[in-house]
Amino acid sequence: MPRPLIVAIDGPAGAGKSTVSKILARRLDFTLVDTGAIYRCVALKARRQGIALDDDARLETLLHGVKVSFRVEEDVNHVFLEGEDVSDEIRTPENSLAASQVSSRPVVRNHLLELQRRLALSATHGAILEGRDIGTVVFPDADVKVFLFANPEIRARRRFEELFQKGTEKPIDQVLDEQNRRDREDSQREVAPLKPAADAVQMDSTELPLSEVVQRIEDLVLSRRRA
Ligand code: DC
Repeated sequence: MPRPLIVAIDGPAGAGKSTVSKILARRLDFTLVDTGAIYRCVALKARRQGIALDDDARLETLLHGVKVSFRVEEDVNHVFLEGEDVSDEIRTPENSLAASQVSSRPVVRNHLLELQRRLALSATHGAILEGRDIGTVVFPDADVKVFLFANPEIRARRRFEELFQKGTEKPIDQVLDEQNRRDREDSQREVAPLKPAADAVQMDSTELPLSEVVQRIEDLVLSRRRA
């Protein structure tokens, strides 16, 4: 059987990856793999069990039992950790920071590599993977690679508005500080740091509306499919 078409969308938090990936997955009828949600589930499970985020031995044991799955319902990509819907809990500020910390541990990255590949390769038509290292490490031979970014202030504003809509008021400066810290951790870690693949198409969503980003990526996928 031929391999499903693989679309890698990498970039920092708040650049619009999730929104764009969700719309594209629906339009193309592709499987969506939110790889950040997988790291977030590992962080949540470690926190619940009181495991230190740098305790590699205990993290390794925990990883063997981790089961993450996704289900799109009414346009929301729900995330399940061993059958429990943890979509909201994995996105709290505490868990976001913890996810960034566990994602710097090689033991975690190595284990999740296979899981991410399996989820994508079991797709029927194609898979969209959004994350930080999809085009560089998980699928260096992806059919389409996009690196989506935007200036930090715009990204923090988007996050601020998202939180506001969910009923959480947090000063924008604090949102920006937390984002800067995560950016730093994600791009300075030794294993699979956040960086564009040499052959990725770079898109700046600071000025570009997300609908335009979606259209451009869809065009890339369609022309790749024709080829
Ligand atoms: O995309 P996100 O914000 O949900 O990701 C949560 C954390 O997981 C992020 O701080 C970095 C890490 N991550 C990673 O290291 N590699 C990926 N492919 C995806 C996410």
